[in-house]
Amino acid sequence: MSKQKIVIANWKMRLGLAESVALARQYAAEVKTGAVEVVACASEVALTAVGEVLKGSAIKLGAQNVFWEEKGEYTGEVAPQTLLEAGCAYVIIGHSERRQHLLENYQMVHQKLKAVLDHTTLVPIVCVGETLREKEAAKTDYVIADQLQQAFGGIVLVANQQIVVAYEPIWAIGTGNAIKPDDVNTMHEIIGASLVDLLGVDAAKKQARVIYGGSVSSNNVDSFRAIDNVDGFLVGGASMNAEEFAKIISSL
Ligand code: PGA
Repeated sequence: MSKQKIVIANWKMRLGLAESVALARQYAAEVKTGAVEVVACASEVALTAVGEVLKGSAIKLGAQNVFWEEKGEYTGEVAPQTLLEAGCAYVIIGHSERRQHLLENYQMVHQKLKAVLDHTTLVPIVCVGETLREKEAAKTDYVIADQLQQAFGGIVLVANQQIVVAYEPIWAIGTGNAIKPDDVNTMHEIIGASLVDLLGVDAAKKQARVIYGGSVSSNNVDSFRAIDNVDGFLVGGASMNAEEFAKIISSL
């Protein structure tokens, strides 16, 4: 049985506070969620204001980052509990832009994941993906299995706890070069098998969704629709326009 599809907008650091609120208003007006779960990940400062706007809609709020401690002397960081208080239902962990620009490493991703899973109502979206160089060296399978192992090793999900894994090949992000449908099918199979190894069959089948990210748009979303193991999408550039984002959702 296929799982409920989820489409997650990643606004990155593209919008200021007023712009975030304006886009949230457009989402609330234009996005028909239907059977699809829809999440908007706003920048930290905009979370509460965007949450207020989305309250009247079925669109959920997500954050783009989190810290692994709950309280203390960690200047500039935000705890999982604070994200919950701000109204977040989801949080992105280990996006490749953070791994690249903020030097987020395997251990940090693992600690963040553990901290988020201590809160059963905050759902982590764990990003994995290979660079172009790794792809060209035919190391993709190894790299993705390793990233999953480093993130999920030793993790045990409690009953009904949900997780999302976003497969985002780095060469596909923001380039207009989305992955080929056959390739995403293969990669999601590999990710699914790794999650079975790491979390157990039951949890992997019932509590994990594997989504694709990287240049998803209304032009290519149809080519992924029929693939059973693609449980949804993480959308960057195409989420900046409410009408375009709504089209992606309505075509699922
Ligand atoms: P993109 O970004 O859709 O612009 O490629 C996706 C992401 O980085 O999450």
